[in-house]
Amino acid sequence: MPYQTNAVLQKIIAQKLVNLAGRQINLCNQNILDVGSGTGFIAQNLVQTGAKPSSIFQIDRNPEALNYAKQFGNVVNTDFNKPLSFEQKFDVIFSSMALQWAENLYKTLTHLQNFLSEGGNIFFAIPLQGSLQEIYDILEITSFPFPKMEDMMEYAHIIHTQTYVENSYIALKNIHISNLVLQQNTYITKNKLILLKKVITTWNVGFFKLK
Ligand SMILES: C[S@@+](CC[C@H](N)C(=O)[O-])C[C@H]1O[C@@H](n2cnc3c(N)ncnc32)[C@H](O)[C@@H]1O
Repeated sequence: MPYQTNAVLQKIIAQKLVNLAGRQINLCNQNILDVGSGTGFIAQNLVQTGAKPSSIFQIDRNPEALNYAKQFGNVVNTDFNKPLSFEQKFDVIFSSMALQWAENLYKTLTHLQNFLSEGGNIFFAIPLQGSLQEIYDILEITSFPFPKMEDMMEYAHIIHTQTYVENSYIALKNIHISNLVLQQNTYITKNKLILLKKVITTWNVGFFKLK
């Protein structure tokens, strides 16, 4: 599937997030939920570390992505902006590079907390303000409203200590220009396309842990 090969950054971030969680908790024999799983990078990493596919649940609104993800765990086609209807609770909830699509991030996070078992944790990675700015500058369009670090800090009462931001620099040469940009129906001139192909763009990715 093209996403699997093009999503270089997502792959790296998912691996980092699973490693971050794995340094703190045993990820085997846990009931796990991945929110906005896409094609299943998180579950794939979890299975490699010994988690059982039968105890992993992946939710996404894209059925095509879920069709690929189902080889790594259970899949549920649902919208995380709507109330979730799981009857069970989860020991660990992951979300990697998906919650930027939350209509109200605070509401989504607190809603997800309702599905945590006693002592459970949420580990999530999210692109923050400043991400892809080089591209928006070339295209002369308003950037996607990525959350600001200050906003995240306002959630400090739910966000547990561990927080760090990592800047990843990605060359666009061989990568499809992000949907984040194309969704604004931008007309890309030939000159802008040349600039885009040369640009090294930045993702500011925040890693957070919630209890
Ligand atoms: C950038 S992809 C990341 C996918 C995966 N977590 C990864 O790291 O490769 C964002 C994912 O969020 C999903 N998504 C966006 N908004 C959603 C929503 N409201 N409900 C469920 N899934 C959503 C998209 O379908 C997409 O698969």
